[in-house]
Amino acid sequence: MNNNLIKKNYLKKIKLINKYDKFYYDKNDSVVSDQEYDKLKKDIIEIEKKYPNLKNKESPSLKVGFKPSKNFKKFKHKIPMLSLSNAFDRNDLKNFEKKIINFLSLKENVEIEYSTEPKIDGISASLIYEKGILAKGLSRGDGIEGEDITENLKTISDIPKKILSKDFPNEIDIRGEVFITKKDFKKMDEKFANARNAASGSLRQKNPNETKKIPLKFIAYTFGYIDNDKIKTQSDFLSNLNNWGFKTSQFNKIIKGIEKLTLRHKKFEEKRFDLDYDVDGLVYKVNKFDLQKRLGFVANAPRWAVAHKFSANSSTSKILNIDIQVGRTGALTPVAKIEPVNISGVVVSNATLHNEHEINRKDIRIGDVVKVERAGDVIPHVVSVDISKRQSNSEKYIFPKKCPSCGSKTTKDFNATTNKFDAVRRCLNEDFKCEKIAMEGIKHFVSKEALNIDGFGKKIVEKFWELKLVKFPQDIFNLNFGKIKELDGWGDLSVSNLKYAIEKSKKISLDKFIYSLGIRHIGQENAKLLSQHLRNFENFYKLSKANNVENLSNIDGIGETQINSIRAFFSNKINLNVLEELKKTMKILNATSEKKGGILMNKTFMFTGKLQEISRAEAKSLVEENSGKIISNVNKKLNYLVIGEKPTIKKINKAKELNIKILTQNEWIKMLNKTS
Ligand code: IVH
Repeated sequence: MNNNLIKKNYLKKIKLINKYDKFYYDKNDSVVSDQEYDKLKKDIIEIEKKYPNLKNKESPSLKVGFKPSKNFKKFKHKIPMLSLSNAFDRNDLKNFEKKIINFLSLKENVEIEYSTEPKIDGISASLIYEKGILAKGLSRGDGIEGEDITENLKTISDIPKKILSKDFPNEIDIRGEVFITKKDFKKMDEKFANARNAASGSLRQKNPNETKKIPLKFIAYTFGYIDNDKIKTQSDFLSNLNNWGFKTSQFNKIIKGIEKLTLRHKKFEEKRFDLDYDVDGLVYKVNKFDLQKRLGFVANAPRWAVAHKFSANSSTSKILNIDIQVGRTGALTPVAKIEPVNISGVVVSNATLHNEHEINRKDIRIGDVVKVERAGDVIPHVVSVDISKRQSNSEKYIFPKKCPSCGSKTTKDFNATTNKFDAVRRCLNEDFKCEKIAMEGIKHFVSKEALNIDGFGKKIVEKFWELKLVKFPQDIFNLNFGKIKELDGWGDLSVSNLKYAIEKSKKISLDKFIYSLGIRHIGQENAKLLSQHLRNFENFYKLSKANNVENLSNIDGIGETQINSIRAFFSNKINLNVLEELKKTMKILNATSEKKGGILMNKTFMFTGKLQEISRAEAKSLVEENSGKIISNVNKKLNYLVIGEKPTIKKINKAKELNIKILTQNEWIKMLNKTS
């Protein structure tokens, strides 16, 4: 067989197996016998063994588990299952600790105590116990909603089904990692590329009897909620877990200060391969629960914990070509198309080159032999060039000055604070005329963090775009389903699923709506700040009037950069039209106070001067937790000016002039204490 035929035959098999999977997971139906299915899978693996370069990302050997299956009921987590922010080096760690020190307003040289734990590379699960009985078990899902996999989890012997200890909390949600040991994984047939995929796949078997056959393990490390206020530290919680009958990692350890953390990381990284399960880093958690509580969360991760990853795995390959991708914000990202290489179980054929500046700095050229690195779920990237292998006729790579999508001019922003040009070159054509920017905008609009339309992935957006089914975000609500049904791979069921998912997405919170518009510099956090300040869609729309945009400087956290970007967004007539059209179809919910009915409800505060013991950020979050609002200008809307050490006299005078009540920090704290 010639190479083309082999590839065609391979892709045909991949398509077929994916079709079978879809039936199995979505329709609860097997269209082939188990033997036939297994034979197909085996064939695919055989071909991949012989021709590793063919390996396709849709291959059953590469898929990370399966997408949330319709076989399992979805269930909302009472407390969301968040992720961890990553640190890759000492500098990242220092930044992590600096933020903590600032937030808690601690002395700079303080040594914080951490619970350090291995970061097991498996699948997280949440176990809900009521009166000592395992009542429900959920997968992480999207962090908000998980799948009800109780019966499958019950097959794992490490998971206690009934706990009799007297001190076991009445209600608790225990969380941990489900995994397969390296030894057990080796014994399994070669259905999966790595142990993590195997654990994920096994845990989501339709039939719990199938899960039971796999030697899954469970290690517990945290809780969602706990009905016990006697446990004061993470290390104490971990030893309680042990007493209650859970397995915890034998490598958990209390460590103080960044220096010792770095040392521990170095030592542990050396022995990671001696462990019998995959570990991709260490997790550091501020040990004291009262500090954790004060620190709280940013977007999707706690401020009090970080995952310190182990160094990436790397390999060498050759740059075959350089593609320039245009992102949603117009950024031109160079991507190296490389000769496919297998890096720790994943075939990599694209690696990012970051931006124009990086290409120039490293003098990267087409034809170069390069080192490519991949760490966890981070996009693979080109680290360095092996100059000794460079051909004599190689030419310097000239970065395009025009947008490869729309041909218009590109520029690099000038940053007035650093006095430098940005490393990223951008296409300026932001008003839907640049095809790529507009299409990426739609991908963002339907994405998980925005409208969260199930099943409306990037590939589908590209397909619909190509067929001119979508151009503007509002087109999502006017799709020609008749045409879609006729497309390859679509049918009645998938069309009705998509219809349902789109219908569901029409109802949306104001912050998600603002985020979905993809305004540059307005990420999830800033969208939340805007939503809390503006309260409803109408006020948001009114930002089209210039002076209303200026008022946003009242919001702590929104600065000149964000304001300029919002102004640019609203000065574009097409964007206004998009907003009007979306408003006709969508139900955009008014913002609700984070905590309704708190004692500071409808009251506005401003701080001036240094506060004692707590940082500005913590003071601000305390006000907000009690339903108050922070503004950063002394004006008629301000109710209280709280003064710390060395306040700004101008602000005090202005407050006096406007008859605004002035509070000392102690008076403000008394006011807060009335809440509890
Ligand atoms: S604590 C609020 N501790 O890492 C975050 N996570 O990126 C609570 N993981 O989804 C997670 N070992 O699957 C925590 N000792 C450990 C962990 C751990 C592995 C995983 C977990 C989580 C992911 C976070």
